[in-house]
Amino acid sequence: MNQENKSYLIKTYGCQMNEHDSEKLAGVLEDEGYQPTEELEDADIIILNTCCVRENAELKVYGKVGQLKNLKRKNPDLIIGICGCMMQQEDVVKEIKEKYRHVDIVFGTHNIHHFPKLLKEAKEDKNPLVKVWEESKELIPEMPVQRKDDHKAFVTIIYGCDNFCTYCIVPHVRGREKSRPLENIVKEIEDLVADGVKEVTLLGQNVNSYGKDFEEEIDFADLLTEINQVEGLARIRYMTSHPRDFSDKLVETISQLDKVCNHFHLPVQAGSNKILKKMNRNYTKEEYLRLIEKIRANNPDAAITTDVIVGFPGESEEDFEKTLDLFKKVEFDMAYSFLYSKRTGTPAAEYDEQISDEVKKERLQRLMDIQSDISLKKNKPLEGQIVEVLVEGESKKDPNKLTGRTCSNKIVIFEADRDLTGELINVKINRVQSWTLFGDLV
Ligand code: SAH
Ligand code: SF4
Ligand code: F3S
Repeated sequence: MNQENKSYLIKTYGCQMNEHDSEKLAGVLEDEGYQPTEELEDADIIILNTCCVRENAELKVYGKVGQLKNLKRKNPDLIIGICGCMMQQEDVVKEIKEKYRHVDIVFGTHNIHHFPKLLKEAKEDKNPLVKVWEESKELIPEMPVQRKDDHKAFVTIIYGCDNFCTYCIVPHVRGREKSRPLENIVKEIEDLVADGVKEVTLLGQNVNSYGKDFEEEIDFADLLTEINQVEGLARIRYMTSHPRDFSDKLVETISQLDKVCNHFHLPVQAGSNKILKKMNRNYTKEEYLRLIEKIRANNPDAAITTDVIVGFPGESEEDFEKTLDLFKKVEFDMAYSFLYSKRTGTPAAEYDEQISDEVKKERLQRLMDIQSDISLKKNKPLEGQIVEVLVEGESKKDPNKLTGRTCSNKIVIFEADRDLTGELINVKINRVQSWTLFGDLV
């Protein structure tokens, strides 16, 4: 194909689903002969893969699309594409069509596999192409993947989400839960390992719903058991699991499988039962605490992390204090905390008693202060210990040092006299901060 010297740039917003979708888009573009570039000015095609989980994410995208207008003016042959979750919302697509006429291709998450066709059409036709398809009952066909890293890889196990938490837009833009056949997943992982991959992250909005849509009785624990047998694979991670669906069987299975990391990310979202109910989370604070106890009884060195939303409609000071109380009781290793963001089309956007920005921000700060101390306290015992690290590459903070992660998903920074990227090595920790461990190679 005569695409020599043509380059592409994909800017990805949002979660690992989107990162992995971008790897698929990159796979298509590289098959077409495009090379990656990091400079907007050098790119012949620019794709923005968007997220709409919170308003901030959307605002960033609008800012970026506006910025691209000048580039298009300078280079009319530039192809600009926008895809991802934001594009599954009708009002957004309408706005892009009306106000951002320099955009050439718009497509959604359900038709990402049509990207090769859209790209071809965009090259032949100067009119903007807007194609956002309805979800089909079929799984999205397999696509070529250009992976970001050689040593670790994302592997989708389930698409979509059926939970409909009342604040969340994801089920509206990612569609219904559809599990990928077990054989396809295992085969993909075997191929990855043959290519040198040591760690896989199994992806899904709710990984422990895996298999519920199959006729055969296969669940997430069974899938993990199968994957654990792949020879040469070192680590298995998964994102994200719903506390309601974290069965006893799953807790016990994980404790018996040597490759499954001792990191549990269990988004709690709130500590007040009243708010949890209004969120449609389907568990209580007490049930959540019991789950944590069970996990720790089976995996004494488990690292536990969470997501939490502050300022959900109707959250009183008393409700918020229940979240603080839960944080003090559980002592998470780390927490991603978010200000509640109103998403059009979700039930919570219509609820009375929306909380002011000021109150939300003040609560978030209080929560983060407490968590920062807890994270530090949780890391302290690691001082003097030797931990196994999968090396990811140069540290962004300090390019003379390398960075990697422990099995418990903690970031480690250390010095080395050669590039150890992709290797599993031992590091002796000599200093810790809330979010980072520092050490020396042993
Ligand atoms: N499926 C995953 C992740 C969903 S999005 C899960 O269920 O945990 C990641 C996080 O974004 C969520 O866990 C939640 O904490 C946060 N989030 C989702 N919608 C939000 C909203 N409207 N406002 C603020 N945070 C939100
Ligand atoms: Fe959103 Fe809830 Fe589904 Fe997670 S489980 S993606 S928070 S609806
Ligand atoms: Fe965002 Fe879509 Fe992920 S809305 S968080 S990119 S599933």
